[in-house]
Amino acid sequence: MDNVTGVANPQSGGARRSLLRRSGPAGAQILGVGSYQPERVVTNDEMCTMIDSSDEWIRQRTGIAERHWAGEDESLLTMMERASRRALEHAQVEASQIDTIVVSTVTWLKQTPAIAPLLGAALGCPTAAAYDISAACAGFEYALAQADGLVRAGAAGHVLIVAADKLTDLTDLTDRSTAFLFADGAGAAVVGPSDVPRIGPVVWGADGEQGDVITMSSDWLTAMRTGVPSTITMEGRKVFRWATTTIADVAQKVLDVSGVSADELDLFIPHQANNRITDSMLRHLTLPDSVLVARTIERTGNTSASSIPMAIDTLYHSGDIRPDATALLIGFGAGLVYAGQVVILP
Ligand code: UT7
Repeated sequence: MDNVTGVANPQSGGARRSLLRRSGPAGAQILGVGSYQPERVVTNDEMCTMIDSSDEWIRQRTGIAERHWAGEDESLLTMMERASRRALEHAQVEASQIDTIVVSTVTWLKQTPAIAPLLGAALGCPTAAAYDISAACAGFEYALAQADGLVRAGAAGHVLIVAADKLTDLTDLTDRSTAFLFADGAGAAVVGPSDVPRIGPVVWGADGEQGDVITMSSDWLTAMRTGVPSTITMEGRKVFRWATTTIADVAQKVLDVSGVSADELDLFIPHQANNRITDSMLRHLTLPDSVLVARTIERTGNTSASSIPMAIDTLYHSGDIRPDATALLIGFGAGLVYAGQVVILP
């Protein structure tokens, strides 16, 4: 981060035509991962006291058996702080070493300030550059792409990326098209310098023409004026079709640009949206049986941006990730947006 190149004073007295610039290391890497899942477990049976559905239907159509909902003492900031502390501990990095915080969330319900500076203050790095991004269920991969670029450009030394959502704040828990899917959680990772690239090139994009298939029922101004709360609405079938066609191709492109063959993968960790979407991607990718496929949705539901770092952390805790494991990450969601990378995990 201190490497500054260029000519300090190119021509005394004349017009300046160039500036000093920083240069960074050859690569960046994930140094540690952490997550936080709220205490309260909501089973499908409990869910079905709120919507007209059944445990069997939810399991068959999505793979979800239960989800966790945040309680009164589990605010978005609290969940982020807990996940971040675990990531810092895993990375063996002190909060004071973090110079940049990138938070990805769609459920921070204050327009300003962003939640990232508040998180920095809570963690003990109040002067770190800190900002929020909004990339829904691809939020972790968007943040990871930014952290990778910031580190390699020399603009940041250690970046804390936090992907967290408290979707229950924006879900109509009586809406049978969304309520059984969405849940709460937080994931975090510490990204730092590396002599070699351990975060592969991102493949990302958006299809704003389908911006209305996952959206809010109204904007905040309308909600304030009418007193009718705004909640997330989703045309599930359209999202499903898009995910099982476009995103499967994206996953293959990620492998191609990273120079990684399916045989070299240890883990496939797609956004935990629906096991049937994961199955469809697997048919397209034809991964060898040795690749461990994350299916943590069974115990988490769809936790939006946090689903991938939560899955990584869960797999660490179950002993399913060996050091230097190669993982394919693919996130996709409202926007519609998507992003994916191959990473070598710590
Ligand atoms: O994370 C952001 C990205 N989001 C996603 O990736 C979500 C993608 N979409 C999905 O995962 C699926 O579309 C859902 C799980 C949301 C829905 O599954 P589906 O197989 O697409 O169901 P559907 O909407 O096509 O409905 C099939 C049937 C219908 O009944 P009929 O018309 O066949 O008699 C629905 O009325 O299932 C019925 N149905 C339900 N039944 C019980 C719809 N919702 C429910 C429900 N419980 N909650």
